[in-house]
Amino acid sequence: MKMFDVYPLNPVSIVKAEGSYVWDDKGTKYLDMYGGHAVISIGHTNPVYVEKVTKQIREIGFYSNSVIIEQQKELAQKLGELSGKPDYQLFLVNSGAEANENAMKLASFHTGRKKIVAFCGAFHGRTSLAVAATDNPAIVAPVNETDHILFSPFNDSAALEQLFAEQGDQIAAVIIEAIQGVGGIRVAEDAFLRKIRSLCDRYGAVWIADCVQCGCGRSGKYYAADWAGVNADIYTMAKGIGNGFPMGALSITPVIAAKYGMLGTTFGGNHLACAAAIAVADVIQHDHLIENAQKMGDYLMEQLKTLPGIKEVRGRGLMIGIELPVETAELRKKLLFNEHIFVGSSGKFVIRLLPALTITKEHTDQFLTAFRKLLTKEC
Ligand SMILES: Cc1ncc(COP(=O)(O)O)c(C=O)c1O
Repeated sequence: MKMFDVYPLNPVSIVKAEGSYVWDDKGTKYLDMYGGHAVISIGHTNPVYVEKVTKQIREIGFYSNSVIIEQQKELAQKLGELSGKPDYQLFLVNSGAEANENAMKLASFHTGRKKIVAFCGAFHGRTSLAVAATDNPAIVAPVNETDHILFSPFNDSAALEQLFAEQGDQIAAVIIEAIQGVGGIRVAEDAFLRKIRSLCDRYGAVWIADCVQCGCGRSGKYYAADWAGVNADIYTMAKGIGNGFPMGALSITPVIAAKYGMLGTTFGGNHLACAAAIAVADVIQHDHLIENAQKMGDYLMEQLKTLPGIKEVRGRGLMIGIELPVETAELRKKLLFNEHIFVGSSGKFVIRLLPALTITKEHTDQFLTAFRKLLTKEC
């Protein structure tokens, strides 16, 4: 059978990994400043993680949600502690798109309304509502088209206020990435997030913070939306929550009473997935990785701002966008093949850094030295 044609961003075959490094099939070692697309939160093949997952699969890997799964309670307690929201309710799914899909559905159940506000530049996933709320017509199939989604300009409080004034009684939810990932690493202003909170309160709508990419401690807070100092009603997570185990989650305010049977999933929250996520939460807590994300992110951004030929450095913690005045494809190729460093991109002009939260000064300096060398040659 022929493989479906996916598009590898990096034409190398990775066969082994440890911490912030990966190796290809020829034995070449690479520094991973991409974190497998923000997924690797506690480092590749972290020993605590490997031991916990291995032990769990020996005991039981899966039984369905038709039984009590004790690990779900343990995970809910740990994430409540880590995020500082112990009274929120946890619902476990399998991916970021599924988390957002369920969050929007729950908001609609809760309010009895149909409209969802999303923002220009947004990416929320590829399932039907999630892709409809994504600002990229190229990935919206005719069957996904809906007039239930209202797009508003990012970081524009006046436009949002106007939209609510016109249609507030029909709006079920506002969904926003506190840091747009695919949209160019654009940080939502704290005042804008506070405006969303106050409009949702005034009009009885639900605020969904899509923390699929910017969550799980990456920004220097457990949820990037929390930089604004106000609580969202639903936080969605995926990527970093399982350190590579496919998993998604919704953390839901107790004000929204999800009734039994409203949401469901076969695989979500199984024993093995929970064991993986508990190990991740334990390592994040024990090794102070949220603080490390903040510290190393600040250091990286400070240093990046001193390099030549850069238009702008944006982001928070270890979610960083480096905008260049030229397309980045050639530079990324040189980073990969000459310097053996993985980075990501966000559009044609932005290099995206999403390293593991375990990254050290030594790793960041390795990247900065190589990047400075290439930029100096290009300038
Ligand atoms: C902000 C955001 N939301 C949702 C998704 C979709 O997540 P998944 O690919 O796990 O469905 C992504 C994936 O990149 C994302 O970055």
